[in-house]
Amino acid sequence: MPNVPTHGNYVGYYTKRPFLNDERLSFLPADLFKGKRVLDVGCNEGFVTCEIAQCHDASYTVGVDIDNSLIQAAWRRRRVVWSLQEPTLPVESNANHDDEPIVRARPSYFPASCEHEFGSLPVPPSQNRGKTNFPHNMGFRHANWVNEHIPEDKDGYDVVLGFSISKWIHLNDGDEGLEAFFRRVFGVLKSGGVFVLEPQPWDSYAKAKKMDQRLKENGNRLKHRPEDFGRILREMGFEDVEHIGDVGVGGFRRPLHLYTKP
Ligand SMILES: C[S@@+](CC[C@H](N)C(=O)[O-])C[C@H]1O[C@@H](n2cnc3c(N)ncnc32)[C@H](O)[C@@H]1O
Repeated sequence: MPNVPTHGNYVGYYTKRPFLNDERLSFLPADLFKGKRVLDVGCNEGFVTCEIAQCHDASYTVGVDIDNSLIQAAWRRRRVVWSLQEPTLPVESNANHDDEPIVRARPSYFPASCEHEFGSLPVPPSQNRGKTNFPHNMGFRHANWVNEHIPEDKDGYDVVLGFSISKWIHLNDGDEGLEAFFRRVFGVLKSGGVFVLEPQPWDSYAKAKKMDQRLKENGNRLKHRPEDFGRILREMGFEDVEHIGDVGVGGFRRPLHLYTKP
């Protein structure tokens, strides 16, 4: 990947915004992820993906990112999150009972300095913890998800997250690329599934355009604006948008929209 993060592939992104108890997740309906298959498009270093898998009872969550170095960091993040988690029941009591939920352990139980000093704990085999329990209920994939499939797509998803990614797809792939992305989201969602979109506002495109001449030229050709996304998504078949609110502070304050596939 080039040094300039032209896809929004910032290293250290979660040093810039709150990275524990992501506020965006706390604004969503409480049971949105419970027992669900979730896709997190543009997962960066996997902080949000891990939180959904660990704290929101998703049956399976996959994070996908165009930048493989971020995907490697995301796998490491999973080990860190696992290492900081409060110990749960002895593994034997769950052996051969894959479907039995393990009582959810407190995240961030140990200080981060423990993991930092002594290293990550090994992850136990999935047959001892259950495939739908953290950390086995999640994974990461490297792909440009606008035009590449990942194996998990074939079983579909109940929830697709598009947090702070629409601008980067829009600037790189144009109006057509953004439409292709929205169409793919519609295609992989099951009936009743939800697309959670946090679009960046139009005025934030200017800063990204200054990064790179190609983004500038692409950006100058764009006809769609973030205000149009709701109409475009409805024309593709989504039901009316549910506006959850504006979430975050400073430059990270952005609207959160839910679109349901009928
Ligand atoms: C600004 S970050 C947002 C990270 C995360 N979604 C969040 O809001 O906390 C955008 C991420 O999307 C990724 N990305 C951009 N275009 C992508 C694409 N076509 N396919 C997969 N990932 C993409 C970037 O590499 C980057 O990690």
